[in-house]
Amino acid sequence: MNIPRKLKLLAFGACLAAALPASAEEYPKFDYMPGKELAIPHVSGDAKFSNTYQYWKDEKALEDAKKSGKMSHEMNYKDFRWAVKSFDAEGAIDIGRGYYNEKNAKGQSCASCHGAEGKKLKGIYANYPAYNKRLKRVVTVPTQIKTCATERLGFDWKENTRQNTLIDFFVGSLSDGKVVKIDATSPGPIKASYERGRDLFFKRGGHFNFACASCHTPPAAGKYLRGQRPTTFFGDAAQYPIYHFPYALPGDDFEYVFTLQHQIKSCQILSRIYPGEEGSPAMTDIEVFLKASANGYKMSVPVAEYNMDTSYLD
Ligand code: HEC
Ligand code: HEC
Repeated sequence: MNIPRKLKLLAFGACLAAALPASAEEYPKFDYMPGKELAIPHVSGDAKFSNTYQYWKDEKALEDAKKSGKMSHEMNYKDFRWAVKSFDAEGAIDIGRGYYNEKNAKGQSCASCHGAEGKKLKGIYANYPAYNKRLKRVVTVPTQIKTCATERLGFDWKENTRQNTLIDFFVGSLSDGKVVKIDATSPGPIKASYERGRDLFFKRGGHFNFACASCHTPPAAGKYLRGQRPTTFFGDAAQYPIYHFPYALPGDDFEYVFTLQHQIKSCQILSRIYPGEEGSPAMTDIEVFLKASANGYKMSVPVAEYNMDTSYLD
């Protein structure tokens, strides 16, 4: 039978109308998870959320907490954030270094402008994302890599590609030990980005009406959830990009390396929040929020999540 297209559309519309709540009142009352006004761009802000900052604020606090018998969950799981360097990750860094040195037809590579072994990029990761005056936008390191690769070398290495991710890992490792410092309090594009990112982090959405904060603030943070343990949002960004073996998203060929936005996307997918496009302004805002929430914390790259001493974990 040949049903006219208009009729089909009408029937579809009627079904849709029946499935949707009749009035706005039937939608959940909260647009935001509570707590967004408590967030500050510094790791010490955690005290207002989980009050575990005292146990992991520096290496000494962490050692003392462990010695006194504190369990991992009582330390908000920050204990394995700095501690365990992974030798397994070195291979992925080497591949990234290889791409960094890869020459185009004119014999130019990243090294031509930024130095052998990324000499001129040492320490920069601790201050990213940053505002790029030329592009007139806030950029992450992966976005900066894409820009340089496409505009200056003719390589199509955009965000969420193997080359971009592994170079990001290499560049990240050049800032190991440097304290994260993102100025999200002086008026300007970074502050504005931080605030948008914070709002997105606390905003509910998706099938389950979860916000990032639903899982990453107490009482959920620190508890077991789908077999894993989400932490509060403070400090964790300091160990990204991360070596995430044995986890990867379908289709990844990144040697198990996760950029911060890849992690954000992974969480969006798993919690049925529509996944953002890596490098987009909204994803960049969330990254700014997370990175600034690691202010005052030392970068730790490469860390491997799985490769930890679990002997004292609960
Ligand atoms: C022809 C020179 C040139 C080449 C080749 C080049 N870049 Fe750049 N890069 C620049 C300039 C100039 C800037 C300053 C920011 C801008 O103009 O976007 C920059 C900025 C950067 C930054 C930020 C540095 C900072 O101090 O904040 C990173 C990271 C970076 N480039 C990575 C790369 C990588 C990785 C490659 C190889 C894929 C690469 N660049 C290739 C010229 C180059
Ligand atoms: C349904 C619960 C849930 C939601 C919602 C959720 N996450 Fe996660 N998240 C987790 C779990 C569980 C982990 C730990 C697993 C892991 O280490 O990858 C995690 C890990 C992370 C990490 C890595 C931190 C670390 O431990 O190193 C970041 C960053 C992150 N999430 C950000 C986000 C952002 C941003 C959102 C919102 C877009 C979000 N998450 C939404 C459960 C969630």
